[in-house]
Amino acid sequence: MSSLEKDSLEKDSLKKELGQEKEGEGGGAAVRVRSLTRSFDGRAVIDDLQLDVPAGEFVALLGRSGCGKSTLLRVLAGLDREIEGEVLVPRRKAVAFQAPRLMPWKRVWRNVLLGLPGRPGRAVAERALKEVGLGHRIDAWPKTLSGGEAQRASLARALVREPDLLLLDEPFGALDALTRITAQQLVAELWQRRGCAVLLVTHDVEEALLLADRVLVMDGGVIAHQVRVDRDRPRDIADPLLAELRTELLDRLGVKAPEPAAVHKVA
Ligand SMILES: Nc1ncnc2c1ncn2[C@@H]1O[C@H](COP(=O)(O)OP(=O)(O)OP(=O)(O)O)[C@@H](O)[C@H]1O
Ligand SMILES: [Mg+2]
Repeated sequence: MSSLEKDSLEKDSLKKELGQEKEGEGGGAAVRVRSLTRSFDGRAVIDDLQLDVPAGEFVALLGRSGCGKSTLLRVLAGLDREIEGEVLVPRRKAVAFQAPRLMPWKRVWRNVLLGLPGRPGRAVAERALKEVGLGHRIDAWPKTLSGGEAQRASLARALVREPDLLLLDEPFGALDALTRITAQQLVAELWQRRGCAVLLVTHDVEEALLLADRVLVMDGGVIAHQVRVDRDRPRDIADPLLAELRTELLDRLGVKAPEPAAVHKVA
């Protein structure tokens, strides 16, 4: 068999696997990207990028502002098809962005069901809202939600899609420090319960190290660096391994790591 035929056979079987309603636990890939290029006005923002994410893996994506993280996420979400290369993702995928993007004229539960195929009933939204701790705000209007609640509603909207791949673009970016910690814990719990693959774009190196199995750094249009975070959860940011990885990642991002003592000094 020629290598071309073999490639095409492998591709077909992968497509079949990804097209299933629900993949078998632990098996298969959630994302397979080959030679992805995306240009704007002749400038390649993503430039021959390769990426594999196994089913169920939690991956964090770091990178300087403007390096192409959101562009990559939009491609994986199927929102941008003006690309070159090969992108395979599961049929069931969902995205949550930094801004919750709730429709102000629809009650929270209707927002959660927005765009879902079929005619899902209120009970479907209710279940997802309870899962994110918003069972008491089902009938609320979006403008009456706090920032953290709106973000949780946005997560519920992603969850009702029962995704095999959850794409999160700086979902905690606009939250205050305390709400952010709660939201991070919620995502960690949801991921453990649901078992879907997660790709989380964040600017926060510590957040990436606390949550992810693997942390990627995007630079020059490709995944330029990656580290595996081999630690059970919940994790402690004071763990020496995490401190070492933090320095390595900040270095890759072109930031000099502040001394931990200086960071945590209170008075
Ligand atoms: N629709 C578009 N038209 C033209 N240029 C675009 C478009 N979308 C993105 N870009 C450019 O592509 C580059 C990457 O943008 P992208 O939003 O992916 O960056 P990012 O890594 O998500 O940055 P940030 O961390 O600030 O969110 C930027 O220079 C941006 O201006
Ligand atoms: Mg972005």
